[in-house]
Amino acid sequence: MLPDPSSYYMRNPRVVAVTSDSRLILVSEQGDVLEHPTADTARWSAWLQAVSTPLSGAEVGELSATIPDLDEPLFRRLVEAGCVAADRDRDQLLTQREQALRLSPGVQLDATDPVCDHLVVACTGSVVAGLIAPTILSLSLSGFQRSLDVVLTKSAQRFLTRDLLEAYGVRTWADIFERREQVHVPHVQLARSADCIVVLPATADALCRIASGACSDLLSLIVAATTAPVVLIPAMNDAMWNHRAVQRNVKQLKDDGMYVVEPTLIFGAADVPAGAEPMFGGHGTLWAGPRGLMRAVDGSRVRIGDAGFGIRTRTGRGAADSRRVTTGTVLALACVHDQSCDS
Ligand SMILES: Cc1cc2nc3c(=O)[nH]c(=O)nc-3n(C[C@H](O)[C@H](O)[C@H](O)COP(=O)(O)O)c2cc1C
Repeated sequence: MLPDPSSYYMRNPRVVAVTSDSRLILVSEQGDVLEHPTADTARWSAWLQAVSTPLSGAEVGELSATIPDLDEPLFRRLVEAGCVAADRDRDQLLTQREQALRLSPGVQLDATDPVCDHLVVACTGSVVAGLIAPTILSLSLSGFQRSLDVVLTKSAQRFLTRDLLEAYGVRTWADIFERREQVHVPHVQLARSADCIVVLPATADALCRIASGACSDLLSLIVAATTAPVVLIPAMNDAMWNHRAVQRNVKQLKDDGMYVVEPTLIFGAADVPAGAEPMFGGHGTLWAGPRGLMRAVDGSRVRIGDAGFGIRTRTGRGAADSRRVTTGTVLALACVHDQSCDS
């Protein structure tokens, strides 16, 4: 009978969890994809948050009873696929979590085949933005996409400079009235040509603006003007993440067809000097770093096949299932970052 009352269970920190309006998608370090259709991704999100810390079999059993579609065969599948780690010794699971947090490669520079034509990465004003540069440079230097644009909000620029990214040849945008290199109206042109838009890190403020269709800054304008898939990678402390208003926005975003990468444990920035325990509520991306991204890419390609993966053709744009056909890219992008901190 699972969960075994004499074991402890914990979400594998190296597995990326993405939720959409009707699906839970788990990507292993090897790139294996476990997809589960579900009517209530909010309950799954709460479950994933709770099992970020090792729980006894009895506790997991009680918790799992809150999710109607989490039956014994599915739980067994999660354990067998390595999405949920199990051990009779709770400390072993804590050690596993600690290692994932500390041994995370920051850069990946090996050349890779491009998985999309045009990627737009938006950075918003979480303190995590200060740690995003190596990931962006990994994407850029490894050739993950054929072209890359980075959008920075005003607050993001307090943590990450445009000068740094531009010095490495990454084109950046920060203002709706900016013009350069044949791009006269950035929110229209970037929104139209993007194959995928990733918001990394995504603040509570940015989630709110996007959910409400604010169109009050370059990022919310681009999202409002695109038909490309949008992957949101929230970064905030657990109090903010669990606030009703924030969760309301997250639900709205998923209902609107966006992908949300479920947060994982990270260092709490304000608590680091005190040597505090890692806390839940980070950017929610893979601790295995950019290398994890490459593994997920290969795995997704095998699983989803030609029809569901690879460089999207322009003819697919605007089609009813344009979000579905790029699942592979979405999963890959969900795995892009390494460990960092929040506030
Ligand atoms: C040091 C510092 C760290 C912050 N970290 C976060 C964070 O991790 N997540 C978050 O949602 N907001 C964070 N904020 C608040 C945002 O910067 C603020 O809500 C801002 O309006 C976000 O704007 P943007 O979404 O346009 O970038 C932080 C603020 C400060 C001063």
